[in-house]
Amino acid sequence: MTSMTVSHLSKTFKLNRKERLRAVDDVSFELRSGETTALVGESGSGKSTIARMLARLVTPTSGEILLETSNYRKDVQMVFQDPFASLNPAHTIGYHLRRPLEIHKTPGTAEELLERVNLPAAFAGRYPHELSGGQRQRVAIARALAPRPKVLLADEPVSMLDVSIRLEILNLIDRLKSEEDLAVLYVTHDLATARHFARDIMVMYRGQIVERGPADDVILTPGHPYTRLLAEAAPDPWAAHEGERPPRQERRNGPPLAGGCLFRNRCPYATDACAGDIPVYGEKHLVRCVLRASDRTAMERDGTPS
Ligand SMILES: Nc1ncnc2c1ncn2[C@@H]1O[C@H](COP(=O)(O)OP(=O)(O)O)[C@@H](O)[C@H]1O
Ligand SMILES: [Mg+2]
Repeated sequence: MTSMTVSHLSKTFKLNRKERLRAVDDVSFELRSGETTALVGESGSGKSTIARMLARLVTPTSGEILLETSNYRKDVQMVFQDPFASLNPAHTIGYHLRRPLEIHKTPGTAEELLERVNLPAAFAGRYPHELSGGQRQRVAIARALAPRPKVLLADEPVSMLDVSIRLEILNLIDRLKSEEDLAVLYVTHDLATARHFARDIMVMYRGQIVERGPADDVILTPGHPYTRLLAEAAPDPWAAHEGERPPRQERRNGPPLAGGCLFRNRCPYATDACAGDIPVYGEKHLVRCVLRASDRTAMERDGTPS
C-alpha cells in the first residue's frame, strides 16, 4: 500500500541576493508500507533536503507530498544522522521517550520502547552522555517509533556510527519496518547497504533522480553513467566522516550547468545531445539519460548490439 506520494517536488535555496541553488529539482516517487526505499547519491546531491521536506522541516518551493493518513505530525517521523546532536543532554532517555507518547497520546511506556530497540529498560533513567553512539541511535529510533508512525525517514542513520555496529542498527530498522509495516526512506551514500536493505533504489545527482528501480537491477545493471561510477567506485574513504567530507562536487563540477543532463561534464559518454532535453526510459527501472535511448534506437535500426 502506498503510504506517501511525492510529486514534482523542488527546493530552491536563496544563497544571497543573486544566487539561487536548485537543491532538489522535480522529484517524484512513492513510499510504500512495509518497504524500504533507498535514496543514494554523493554528498550535496540533495538527499537531506528531500528527507527534510518530507519531514516538514523544510518548505518545498513547489510540488506535493501526499500522505495516505491525515495526522502528518504523528505519522511521519525522522531519524537523523548525528546521534550525539539529536538527544538533549539535560534530559534522561526516559524523558525523550515519554514526551512523544504524551504529545501524540499513544499508549506505551519508555521501557516498552527501549525493549523494542533491544535496550535494557533501566536505560530510561540514564542520560545521553552515558550511552554509546549506537545506543543513542537506538534511542532515537525508539523515539521516532513512539507515535506509531507510518513513514520513517532515516537520513544516513549509521554513517556517524562505528563501522562494526552499522549493520546491527540497519537490521534493527529492517525488523521494525516489517513488524510495524513502516514505509522507510533510507538515505545513504552506501550502495551496498542500499541494495541489501531496500526494495527500490533511487539515485540522485545534483538535485535530480537520474535512475531508479528495483535494488538489484539498479546495482547489477545500472543504466546511468553516474550510477555506474558509484557502483564501481572503491570503498569510500570518507564514509565514516560524512560531516568532514570536502565539497567535492563544487570543485569538480565547475560553473553551474543550465538545463540538460547535469552529469554531462563528468560523463565519459557525453555528447551534444546531453545539453538538450533528457528522456527518461524504462518502466520499472527508469533511467534519465540520452545514452541508452539512442543505443536502443541504433540497435533497433541495425539489429546489432552495441
Ligand atoms: N538551508 C540551506 N541553505 C542553503 N543551501 C542549502 C541549505 N540546505 C542545503 N543546502 C545546499 O543544498 C545542496 C543539497 O544539500 P543536502 O540536501 O544536504 O545534500 P545531501 O544530503 O545529499 O548531502 C547542497 O549544495 C547544500 O549546500
Ligand atoms: Mg545529507
